[in-house]
Amino acid sequence: MKNEGIEGMERFESPGRGRGLRALRHFAVGELVFACPAYSSVLTVNERGAHCEHCFTRREDLFKCGKCKQAYYCNVDCQRGDWPMHKLECVSMCALGENWCPSETVRLVARIIMKQRVTTERTMSERLLLLTEFEAHLDKTDGEKDEMNQSGIAALHHFYSRHISDLPDDQALTELFAQVNCNGFTIEDEELSHLGSAVFPDVALMNHSCSPNVIVTYKGTVAEVRAVQEINPGEEIFNSYIDLLYPTEDRKERLLESYFFVCQCTECTTKSKDKAKMAPRKQSSPPKPEEIQSMLHYAKNVIEEFRRAKHYKTPSELLEMCELSLEKMGTVFGDTNVYMLHMMYQAMGVCLYMQDWDGAMSYGEKIIQPYSLYYPAYSLNVASMYLKLGRLYLGLEKKTQGVKALKKALAIMEVAHGKDHHYVAEVKNEIVEQK
Ligand SMILES: C[S@@+](CC[C@H](N)C(=O)[O-])C[C@H]1O[C@@H](n2cnc3c(N)ncnc32)[C@H](O)[C@@H]1O
Ligand SMILES: [Zn+2]
Ligand SMILES: [Zn+2]
Ligand SMILES: [Zn+2]
Repeated sequence: MKNEGIEGMERFESPGRGRGLRALRHFAVGELVFACPAYSSVLTVNERGAHCEHCFTRREDLFKCGKCKQAYYCNVDCQRGDWPMHKLECVSMCALGENWCPSETVRLVARIIMKQRVTTERTMSERLLLLTEFEAHLDKTDGEKDEMNQSGIAALHHFYSRHISDLPDDQALTELFAQVNCNGFTIEDEELSHLGSAVFPDVALMNHSCSPNVIVTYKGTVAEVRAVQEINPGEEIFNSYIDLLYPTEDRKERLLESYFFVCQCTECTTKSKDKAKMAPRKQSSPPKPEEIQSMLHYAKNVIEEFRRAKHYKTPSELLEMCELSLEKMGTVFGDTNVYMLHMMYQAMGVCLYMQDWDGAMSYGEKIIQPYSLYYPAYSLNVASMYLKLGRLYLGLEKKTQGVKALKKALAIMEVAHGKDHHYVAEVKNEIVEQK
């Protein structure tokens, strides 16, 4: 491909932020800034059978790969299109059965290596930034990250070396893992359920802001970037790398840990939402600073403990963990405090999994108002919460509330996903069906 860049956009040196993306023209709220096909993508193991392994389309009439009976496709075209990547996994999955367990990052890295072997020219995903140009921050790798990368390399050799002849050396692989960690994306559906991982080099050119002027959504394995604030010529285009629910200190910690920079955006400077996000319980004598501090410590521990517990505890044990922590935190924190909201969100997820619709609905009802205040005006977190709530209401035959919630979701999605997105059409249908 000849390098013609992206219309209306340029790559530039952003002071203090490395390379960045800048607008050359005006973009209105809701306008598509650019689209970028995945350079490589991988469907998460849990979604096999529900989505096409190649194009990520969700449909019920997919057909199985006859060999491994693990990968599912829309049709022969998708199966053929995926074969250069799927062949890396097909035979080993048959041979190893349950012992075939590379992480999603390892699977993605294997696909990237294979793609690099078969591509000779700059791809349509790299109009402004090449994958080989990705920032790696290798000089900042600490012991823990190094260990992760080393185990990734070992897994790559273990699961893929038979299918990728002469893998790159350890130094090159260490760099590739670090690049994927700093520039990779996860793909989610409209309710923010995880579908897979991918690399979109041009999308990775965008720097972060906690008050982003664009949002990234997906159509299958194509990333679409839309303006969620007006963008004027000459302005830098910023995306958010993280969940923006949390207070400044938490966001800064996360960005430093995962992306090695100190965010200096307006939200991080003014900290305008921090006070509300940390809301204490309203009572005659407000909690003492040391009580708040110690509960904050407890909250962060319980969040981490819960994250790990998801891998081995039963749903009812998980729900109990949520309830106990909410009870304890509730002695100091208000219901709108973000750590309370975090555990309510987890509890809602467990209720949905257990098909306890009433339970899920009552958690969702507590979450939605504070979510709308804490997240930016157009947020996928808020849209997906309205969507889940709306669908729950309709399932529980609460028609008026259901339609109202779906309309709220739709208003955000029309901007973030674009009016012609199939998710938007689906939500519109759900509303029409109620009339
Ligand atoms: C996905 S890359 C973005 C493109 C990057 N600037 C480059 O030159 O390749 C992520 C890296 O960009 C830098 N970065 C992103 N947002 C930033 C910000 N708001 N302030 C400073 N550095 C930032 C950090 O080095 C981060 O690890
Ligand atoms: Zn397909
Ligand atoms: Zn197969
Ligand atoms: Zn920030």
